[in-house]
Amino acid sequence: MTYHQRLWDIHTGTPHPFNDRAPAIDHGAGRPSPDRYHSKAFADAEWEKVFARSWLLACPLSDVREPGDFAKFDIGPESFIVVRATDGSLKAHYNVCPHRGSQLILADTGSIGQFTCPFHSWQFALDGQNIAVTDPETFRPEVLCHDHNLTSLRCEEAAGLVFVSMDPGIQPLQQWLAPILPQLELYDIGRMNVVQHKRSDWGANWKGGVDAFAETYHLHAVHPQTQCLMDDRTQIDLWPGGFSRQFVPFAQPSPRFPDQQGVNAGIEIMLKDAGIDPAQFHGSAQESRAAVQQAKRQRAAALGLDWDKFSDTQLSDSTIYSLFPNVQIGCHPEAVFLHRFVPHATDPNQFTYDTCILYRHIEGANLAAPAWMGLGADVDMTGETRPDIVRTALGEPPELGEVLDQDSELLPIVQAGARSRGFRGPLWSEQEARLRHFHAELDRMMAAD
Ligand SMILES: [Fe+2]
Repeated sequence: MTYHQRLWDIHTGTPHPFNDRAPAIDHGAGRPSPDRYHSKAFADAEWEKVFARSWLLACPLSDVREPGDFAKFDIGPESFIVVRATDGSLKAHYNVCPHRGSQLILADTGSIGQFTCPFHSWQFALDGQNIAVTDPETFRPEVLCHDHNLTSLRCEEAAGLVFVSMDPGIQPLQQWLAPILPQLELYDIGRMNVVQHKRSDWGANWKGGVDAFAETYHLHAVHPQTQCLMDDRTQIDLWPGGFSRQFVPFAQPSPRFPDQQGVNAGIEIMLKDAGIDPAQFHGSAQESRAAVQQAKRQRAAALGLDWDKFSDTQLSDSTIYSLFPNVQIGCHPEAVFLHRFVPHATDPNQFTYDTCILYRHIEGANLAAPAWMGLGADVDMTGETRPDIVRTALGEPPELGEVLDQDSELLPIVQAGARSRGFRGPLWSEQEARLRHFHAELDRMMAAD
């Protein structure tokens, strides 16, 4: 099996600069200790040293476009509110009333004029300033002279995504994301809207989720149905800070798949998504990926879309980014898929898998979002109404489409084994280079003072 190849643009026969390989990073061949997957002590240290010192993806920009728009972001033991203030600036506050500590906001998203605590009705402006204490005359002055505004935290936006950080001294977000920011900006995520948002609880450590979605090595075993239309000869790039990228070729069979020539039903779906009638397509399965690229490019030109900025690979394949620590983004010009692996407040054997599909509706274009995203047929693609988050409890199938549901069944099995004293730590192949890179950054932060 080959890996670390550079994917070329088929129609020009040359490499597109977007696909340029990142300078090599070699983390050696070490075997990390397995306690990271189940130890409570490790999880507690990880919260302080990794999560409290990183930029964390809180919400897409579309949730907080207008003054008063807010989004609640729950992660580990914390809850945050991101809000567009009256002056148009973005703010983030801990979702905590300074009076007795009650949470202020219970809704996931919405629009509001001010925050009112559900416990004793203290009120706060969107910028976090206290504007009303109920019965202030019943407080001694030396009590109310303490700061009784909301506790705020760092909040910045880049590439259509809003991040928060609990670390007041953290470097600016643009600097944190620098290795991949220009690439993410190409997708105009700020002009996309949420069309589907699903949140499910899984019986595994959050890093088990990160690991499973950062490699295609398991496709043949867990998702054999993908072999007819997804190639596992991918390009992997690593950047400092734990960031990585992987191109996964679509619309061509894996070399593991027996029929390399016939246009199978899976490839037919991809041809249709690109606007090609499979009955009129006379090429082989080795030619379908190039046909998809060409058709998408022609269709975009006809619609006046600026898709020359994308390489052919970006049109047909999945371009997947890892944002350290807990985010992956599957990027396609039509839609992007945000995966967040959210640690549980107290249990290192559980995480919340939060998935959000963002789509840019273009009047008259009706471009299909990639089929692997598992969008329901009843989804409103206009983005005019922000859909509610669909929640699934631990042990229930998350109904994320066949492929992701297969992962949800497997991960608790991996977690159960990784907890055993018989497991001595992972042994990674070069197909799993993104995992080694992620854990190297995690270890670097865990070792810091
Ligand atoms: Fe998977």
